[in-house]
Amino acid sequence: MRCVVANWKMNLASGEAKSFCEDLLVHMGPEPESEVGIAPPYTLLHLVSSLVRTKGLRVFGQNGHAEAKGAFTGEISMPQLRDAGCSGVILGHSERRQFFGETDAALAKKIKAAWQWDLLPLLCIGESLAQRDADQTLAVLGQQLSILAETGPGPLWVAYEPVWAIGTGRRAEAAQVLEAHAFIRAELNRLLPETGSQVPILYGGSVTPESFPELLGIPEVAGGLVGGASLDPGKFAELVKQAG
Ligand code: PGA
Repeated sequence: MRCVVANWKMNLASGEAKSFCEDLLVHMGPEPESEVGIAPPYTLLHLVSSLVRTKGLRVFGQNGHAEAKGAFTGEISMPQLRDAGCSGVILGHSERRQFFGETDAALAKKIKAAWQWDLLPLLCIGESLAQRDADQTLAVLGQQLSILAETGPGPLWVAYEPVWAIGTGRRAEAAQVLEAHAFIRAELNRLLPETGSQVPILYGGSVTPESFPELLGIPEVAGGLVGGASLDPGKFAELVKQAG
């Protein structure tokens, strides 16, 4: 099964989101073969889920707090995401790690909270350019995945997103993607002996309709987590079509 997820980040207002969803559904045709998701900003979750969930698309939150409720100004909880129509949540995106101090310890708690509220976590991992240049890529990925020893098994998607490829137009080369995905698969198998082989591993970082077919041909690439190109319904529908 292939998976394509649109990460809108802090983009779009309600009018744009509505026309995006309407356009996407027209472009996409009735029954996509792959799993398709959209991660809108919180204010658009209800709207987007009312437009696309009956069509079999998933709606993801872009983050979620580990606690179910309480005094956490500016945060959103897993049950609130669920209530807004989500069936999944992106966790550990590099922008959250980089700009909002998201830690691996917090992520382990968030994954467990997501499961408690029946949300599918999409865990993002990836190395910075400095880490790649220092030959630390696999060590960083191993560290970021090690939280799964604590969480144990559960429904999970993983996205490999090299930080230097996000929003830069500089996609990772096939050999780099191949090496990272093979390593992630081996770690998943080791950490989650019963379920690790079933976890889809998406690639993210400057995915476009021009680059996606090659990426999909790389072993262990199960789909894409898409930022920039997911803001255009035509391009996103094309990615969905390519995923088949
Ligand atoms: P990008 O973003 O496609 O714009 O590089 C990907 C992501 O951040 O998930």
